[in-house]
Amino acid sequence: EESGGDEFDGRRSLLAEVAREGGERALESFREVVTVETKEGPLDSVTEVDRAVQRHVADRVADAFPDDALVGEEDGAEKEIPETGYAWVVDPIDGTNNYVAGNRNWTTSVALVRDGAVVGAVNRAPALGESYVALGNGSTRSDGPCTTSDRADLATFTVDPVFGLSPAHRTGLAAVTGVVANRLGDLRRVGSGQLTLSMVAAGELDAAVSTVSLPPWDTRAGVYLVREAGGVVTDLAGERWTGASESLLVSNGRAHDELVEAFGGL
Ligand code: IPD
Ligand code: CA
Ligand code: CA
Ligand code: CA
Repeated sequence: EESGGDEFDGRRSLLAEVAREGGERALESFREVVTVETKEGPLDSVTEVDRAVQRHVADRVADAFPDDALVGEEDGAEKEIPETGYAWVVDPIDGTNNYVAGNRNWTTSVALVRDGAVVGAVNRAPALGESYVALGNGSTRSDGPCTTSDRADLATFTVDPVFGLSPAHRTGLAAVTGVVANRLGDLRRVGSGQLTLSMVAAGELDAAVSTVSLPPWDTRAGVYLVREAGGVVTDLAGERWTGASESLLVSNGRAHDELVEAFGGL
């Protein structure tokens, strides 16, 4: 069945709890002195807090549901979602560079996956006092239901290039920026992909674009939030987005074909 059943209810409560606890743990150290290390490049950072939050979520899940998979960005987690069974997809801090800089745009993201499909998502942005939640019954932002924006005129759209800063991303960033400058309304780069997707779900942004494939912890929770909020998620060719897609185009669905046409050549 779609929802229902004790095994799902138990995990759903745990989903809300671990996301809240993880976000609170990260908030405790926000704007405090934390150790920062770089991984593959100068903007590829990880802090002790990223690791501690992922470890906390992993421990809580392992205690309650020892057979579930834990997929996450930092060391000690799987990198791909298994095709069967339950999996938890965690980005302990999405927007680490913002976090380190004391910018409030970061999220603790957890998605619950069953047999490869997301069945619940929580993105918490504790420094903003917001949380975005979807459990198969629409999406909510903090205190109430939320939906994507109702703009339909591309020239008024605000768009976020939801991707990072590796060399492959930079080509795409320049191209997306060019299209926005010529044909769309305004540009944002929030700096946390999961927050960007949450903002599209809540109508705070109209669309988001990536010209490259993205890992599960940067996408799964947010894509689910957007779909549950009435938005549309495809690749740049307009095909329904899956975890294997090589690009991403997210919008309120009001002018999606025009967006495909505008960004499709990238
Ligand atoms: C990053 C953020 C950023 C996006 C990068 C991601 P991280 O995640 O989502 O907005 O542009 O591609 O890697 O490393 O801060 O979790
Ligand atoms: Ca990172
Ligand atoms: Ca991330
Ligand atoms: Ca991260």
